[in-house]
Amino acid sequence: HQRQQNELIKLHEKAAEIFHHVLLNTQAGEQALSYLKGRGLTEEIIAEFQIGFAPRERILLKKIFENEEVSDELLDASGLMTQRDNGEWLDRFYQRIMFPIRNAQGKIIAFSGRILQTENFDSDKMPKYLNSPETLIFNKRQTLFNYDQAKNEARKEQELTLFEGFMDVIAAWTAGVKNGVASMGTSLTNEQIKMIQRVSNKLLLCYDGDSAGIEATKRALDLLSSETTLELSVARLPDGLDPDDYIGKYGAEEFVRLTKSGRETEFTFKMSYFKRGKNLKNEQERFGYLQEMVKELVKVPSVIEREVYINQIAEEFDISVEAITEEIRGAQQDGH
Ligand code: UTP
Ligand code: MN
Ligand code: MN
Ligand code: MN
Ligand code: MN
Repeated sequence: HQRQQNELIKLHEKAAEIFHHVLLNTQAGEQALSYLKGRGLTEEIIAEFQIGFAPRERILLKKIFENEEVSDELLDASGLMTQRDNGEWLDRFYQRIMFPIRNAQGKIIAFSGRILQTENFDSDKMPKYLNSPETLIFNKRQTLFNYDQAKNEARKEQELTLFEGFMDVIAAWTAGVKNGVASMGTSLTNEQIKMIQRVSNKLLLCYDGDSAGIEATKRALDLLSSETTLELSVARLPDGLDPDDYIGKYGAEEFVRLTKSGRETEFTFKMSYFKRGKNLKNEQERFGYLQEMVKELVKVPSVIEREVYINQIAEEFDISVEAITEEIRGAQQDGH
């Protein structure tokens, strides 16, 4: 297996060079390049992440690999090609901006391709992002985009930042936040959580500011706080913006401010999360909300932090600190 793994990695490194060359130096890559520049990526950052382009004809890798007489077995195992019924090979990725995915050692093991929408290409029924299939060298559950670079930053800063998308990781990088990773388009896996814990004891969640992102943040917090001792915080984006949009709109400095002084704790995130869609003027809904908060307060490990929140809630809802403390005691006993 080891030998085939090395060969597959070589094939991916080769493909990445070719996609990157096409993007920067050929006419086929012109539209993709101006699209990326329009999104604020410089050639320096494009080179840093070795971003590329796969043209729509589906014969770029095919021709090169045929020339180099790469075996059918290896082509098939790579996930980079697909085969027609008549045996003809075609590139899997076409009309897509190509992001190399690296393993923890920085070796390219897969790609994610973002569709490039153009006037004469109808991409309506195509997924926005297409990932490589699972192969001998690529297991989606064990991969975090940019982990190879972010882990070194995390050792310095003692923190990783988790984003939803590749473009968010890259935009944050340009803004100077270089400890960002993204899971591969799925919710966080146990394997990915282990990878995070291996390099950091703090994690900042920075998901998109839409309802999908808020729900994903809630799920990630529940999972991480029950399964790990990671110190968690949340940088919440304004409605409808993702980190990449936010940086484009408000600039790098504002983004850094949001991730530093603008961050929330798990509890303050939950305080606003459970308010969503509730009418707190209605008694029953207000009591429901307070019950949720008691459940969350039980989970706050720091006594000091908990006291601060108890005071906040007592003030906001005009109830006594003693009543809340009593409820917490009751909930703790129920939990035993
Ligand atoms: P988003 O839809 O938020 O994409 O999906 P994005 O990162 O903001 O991309 P742009 O700005 O439109 O280019 C977040 C992540 O979900 C996965 C990808 O990993 C993406 O980065 N995803 C999304 C897919 O795997 N497939 C899709 O079709 C869409
Ligand atoms: Mn999203
Ligand atoms: Mn997004
Ligand atoms: Mn978008
Ligand atoms: Mn985006």
